[in-house]
Amino acid sequence: MIAEEDIKNALKAVKYPGYNRDIVSFGLVKEIAAGKGAVSVLMKLTGGNAEVARQIKTESEGVLRALPGVASVFVDVTHDGAAPAAGGRSPWAQQNKLPGIRRAVAVASGKGGVGKSTVSVNLACGLQHLGAKVGLLDCDIYGPSIPLMMGVHQKPTISDDEKMVPPTGHSVKLMSMGFLLDGDQPVIWRGPMIMKTIQQFITAVEWGELDYLLVDLPPGTGDAQLSLCQTVPLDGGVIVTTPQEASLGVVRKGIAMFQKVNVPILGIVENMSYYVTPSGERVEIFGHGGGQAEAKRQNVPFLGEVPIFVEIREGGDSGTPVVVSAPGQPAGQAMLRIAEALRQQFG
Ligand SMILES: Nc1ncnc2c1ncn2[C@@H]1O[C@H](COP(=O)(O)OP(=O)(O)OP(=O)(O)O)[C@@H](O)[C@H]1O
Ligand SMILES: [Mg+2]
Repeated sequence: MIAEEDIKNALKAVKYPGYNRDIVSFGLVKEIAAGKGAVSVLMKLTGGNAEVARQIKTESEGVLRALPGVASVFVDVTHDGAAPAAGGRSPWAQQNKLPGIRRAVAVASGKGGVGKSTVSVNLACGLQHLGAKVGLLDCDIYGPSIPLMMGVHQKPTISDDEKMVPPTGHSVKLMSMGFLLDGDQPVIWRGPMIMKTIQQFITAVEWGELDYLLVDLPPGTGDAQLSLCQTVPLDGGVIVTTPQEASLGVVRKGIAMFQKVNVPILGIVENMSYYVTPSGERVEIFGHGGGQAEAKRQNVPFLGEVPIFVEIREGGDSGTPVVVSAPGQPAGQAMLRIAEALRQQFG
């Protein structure tokens, strides 16, 4: 008798091509049947292409054949990429990939003020520090904070072929509504205008070749954020939370949002995890470990925790993120570890 659980566990050894996540946690396995030494598994890819399906099938058959008591194996992998998704890397890539941009990753949070933009700029500069070519797109139309946090206030120039050339800060290419507005005038936008603007930030900006385009979403998980996720062809999403927010089901909403638009969840970051006083005492202001516990419950990766550091706040206000000003110090190190963990999600 071959247990379904054993089959599932064996399949966890198979990674989705191009990702460091296994096919089980990606939710590809739809049906398992076993009896008399025969195993049959049904998997379904949304998006993907024939090559990805073939690769998953071959590898899955291999690990299942190696199970004790298994004599015959049947693995069926269907994909709805009849017209294969360009790139075909993301399990859910339904949008057309952006030429030149290898991976677009959105950073979201259930609520405002949890440090989403802070994490976005440090991840962008952190990945750059690790040797990648990085762009950062500020989708927060109402409260763009990327210009301040990256210390860049110049307007994009226009290239010969009438594209916007993104200004660069700390070697990261940047685009933000903040560059296009004058002063502190309030912006009154209607939904369709926002979508149009964000579309232009994708298609009318000369991003060039990028390993990562990070996308700082507006806080929340409502319709506005959802349609942004559909506008930008995303390869993955990161959710930033504070420890106490994680326990309130807010993270679950973030996960649900990405799932609704078929964006793989690359992991959860717990920000403001704790504070170490000058005398070395550790104070868990918002509790601690909520992010990790929720990641475990939801079966998504935990990318790490970032304590409260005065240097992180100062870095945000001064326009030089802490991974740039002090990559070797504890605050910079905490952010760099998250950048590394994110990079590893792509194998
Ligand atoms: N780990 C940290 N240590 C110290 N200060 C932090 C940390 N994370 C964020 N902050 C500070 O908290 C404030 C809010 O952070 P941030 O603007 O990144 O949040 P946000 O989630 O993007 O907010 P919004 O909802 O307005 O977009 C900023 O002043 C930032 O410098
Ligand atoms: Mg923000």
